[in-house]
Amino acid sequence: MRMKIIGTGSALPKVTVSNKQIMDWVDTSDEWIRERTGIANRHLSTGETVASLAAEACEKALKQAGVKAEEVDMILLATCSPEYLLPCAACQVQERIGAANAVAFDINAACSGFLFGLTTAQAYLQSGMYKKILIAGSEVLSKLMNWGDRSTCILFGDGAGAVLIEAAEDTQESRMISFSQGSDGAKGMVLSCRDRWINNPLYKENIQEDFYVQMDGQAVYRFATRQVPACIQDALQKAFLTVEDIDLFILHQANARIIEAAAKRLHADIQKFPMNVDRMGNMSSATIPVLLDELNREGRLKRGDKLVLSGFGAGLTFGACVIVW
Ligand code: ACO
Repeated sequence: MRMKIIGTGSALPKVTVSNKQIMDWVDTSDEWIRERTGIANRHLSTGETVASLAAEACEKALKQAGVKAEEVDMILLATCSPEYLLPCAACQVQERIGAANAVAFDINAACSGFLFGLTTAQAYLQSGMYKKILIAGSEVLSKLMNWGDRSTCILFGDGAGAVLIEAAEDTQESRMISFSQGSDGAKGMVLSCRDRWINNPLYKENIQEDFYVQMDGQAVYRFATRQVPACIQDALQKAFLTVEDIDLFILHQANARIIEAAAKRLHADIQKFPMNVDRMGNMSSATIPVLLDELNREGRLKRGDKLVLSGFGAGLTFGACVIVW
């Protein structure tokens, strides 16, 4: 059974925040942020939630595909910033869009979440268990930022993207050809954000509570620039393809310098690496589906195109897949 993406959608908070506005909050400059990250603007929530953004993105994907919500078998929602620990955000999306017949659950693999969601969905399709699956990435990362820490708050944005996939006959060209993915938990603390700690009548730790994102930026940079080209090469080898065979490389939009370094290591033409990080910042699991939706709606994706998708981030987690659009 093959996988075909039949609809894409995205949703962004209505308010955009420029680097200049961030200069009112922390000691930074437009020049520093642009030079180091390529980011100029990002959308920040003024009330939009992980569930509301994801539901809007899913509804747009369904509308584009001409599929009713009741026809969806499964909703996989990648997020690391849900409003509730329970119920999961995917169930909230199910309720909002009226996908009464779907099974729904969240996946947390941070910035690799959407990619891992897509490979998980592919496995469900391949097994014959489900036929129509919504995969979304949705984040409101602004609530996890310490807005006094200039080394992290400048990087991130809020938003959501979604794709609807369906099981296609083996005669169809559209499919996932290969993937490569992994995790390196031993290096997990280079990018972390803690939740409430153990607190019960038997145990209480007296530690300073800090619920904001902590990051060793240079360690993340080294990881990404080494691991991303390596796993893309691995996925290409498994597909018996080379860099030249690929039409577009749709990478997690963490930072323009990481994407440029990955292109260089792969000896690939940077023109094949579309970017929107300048307008969106890093939206973690939402970056790949938001960019896919933009490219799709601009008519830049043609059936038969070979695409590499690659996600990487906290965990540490990383992955790449080769798909035929
Ligand atoms: N504005 C101005 N100065 C700043 C800022 C800021 N926003 N942030 C840090 N600085 C200062 C530091 O204080 C330091 O000053 P000092 O030399 O006086 O001590 C100086 O700039 C250099 O700091 P570094 O942390 O060494 O800066 P670096 O060149 O490493 O750039 C950056 C930081 C952009 C975060 C870089 O390490 C990077 O791109 N890392 C990848 C991180 C990433 O993309 N994370 C996203 C989440 S993970 C993911 O999605 C994969």
